Amino acid sequence: MNTSDSHTLMDRFGRKVDYLRISITDRCDFRCQYCMAEEMTFLPRAQVLTLEEIYTISCAFMELGVKKIRVTGGEPLIRKGVLPLLNKIGQHKSLDELVLTTNGSHLKSMAKDLYNAKVKRINVSLDTLNPLKFKAITRTGNLQTVLEGIEAITKHDFARIKINAVILKNKNHTEVNDLVQFAVNNGIDISFIEEMPLGIIQGESRAERYYSSDDIKADIEQRFSLTASLETTGGPSHYFNVNQTQTRVGFISPHSANFCSTCNRVRLTVEGQLLLCLGQEHSVDLKHIIRANPGDMNYLKQIIIESMKIKPERHEFTLKEQPVVLRYMNTTGG
Ligand code: GTP
Ligand code: 5AD
Ligand code: SF4
Repeated sequence: MNTSDSHTLMDRFGRKVDYLRISITDRCDFRCQYCMAEEMTFLPRAQVLTLEEIYTISCAFMELGVKKIRVTGGEPLIRKGVLPLLNKIGQHKSLDELVLTTNGSHLKSMAKDLYNAKVKRINVSLDTLNPLKFKAITRTGNLQTVLEGIEAITKHDFARIKINAVILKNKNHTEVNDLVQFAVNNGIDISFIEEMPLGIIQGESRAERYYSSDDIKADIEQRFSLTASLETTGGPSHYFNVNQTQTRVGFISPHSANFCSTCNRVRLTVEGQLLLCLGQEHSVDLKHIIRANPGDMNYLKQIIIESMKIKPERHEFTLKEQPVVLRYMNTTGG
């Protein structure tokens, strides 16, 4: 095997893959405009990996050198059994980080359990501090519940908490500085994300609502002073420190500053597809592999090693009308 030795995953472009993102449900209690259509059909249960299957696949990846696992959704905290799953994954000594991306709606009641499950860092989506706008963007969400959730996690000693804000022109672009101030007040980080064209969404075109990271940064510098940081979380954010505070501001800029050359991650969808890139369709059906070969960990690992050969070099996101990728963001959790 020339693309990998038996303990690491390496693709054709010499990129080491040591980060797995797992979507444990496609369901969500929100319907964010940039993520889902208003009327969504979710997957029937038989098509969805069981928690045991997710755990088995996670173990295979950890044995192949994966050091960071991010659990996402849909909304991961609404899947029954999520805490026992996190507890099991979190116990693995070879893992550096078990991390979570959530919409925050269930954090208030689950904060302590997540901490006890050894979740190290939590990213919470929050695009606005205006309750009406929050309702408009998420369609079904309640801002106060999410703010209480964020407050609850700040009471525990998570290594880092980060807000994710997808910024859209004429929807929430004027709120950037209020969001930074919120992060500063709470001693947490924030990433601003350029919208990615996944699935067909309603409303104005993605090009019309594009607001670049450079524009966001210029807005922030009107009120805060930023210094470039060399720190990385192994994710796509490019960070700046907000001077005299504990807060870092990150920019995730798939359009204006492509970060694919340093890509270190692959994704497992809830249907058991191993997706080699968020912005491409290349995939391997791991659900079929484990259901057809129960208990055969070596074969599963072999397939995962082989799959690195089809990891694409980069995404091809454009702001044209027709998205390149028709799946919605909720099938991958970002
Ligand atoms: P950390 O750096 O570990 O904190 O996580 P993160 O910011 O990478 O993860 P999170 O789940 O919070 O995702 C934030 C945004 O980054 C989402 O919009 C993701 O879709 C996006 N993102 C994460 N990985 C990739 C990637 O490989 N490609 C692209 N295009 N976007 C990504
Ligand atoms: N473009 C960019 N980010 C998105 N997210 C959801 N949909 C999109 C999109 N189309 C973000 C969410 C969440 C993270 C996992 O992905 O805000 O924080
Ligand atoms: Fe749910 Fe997150 Fe998608 Fe919003 S972005 S609908 S919170 S999965």
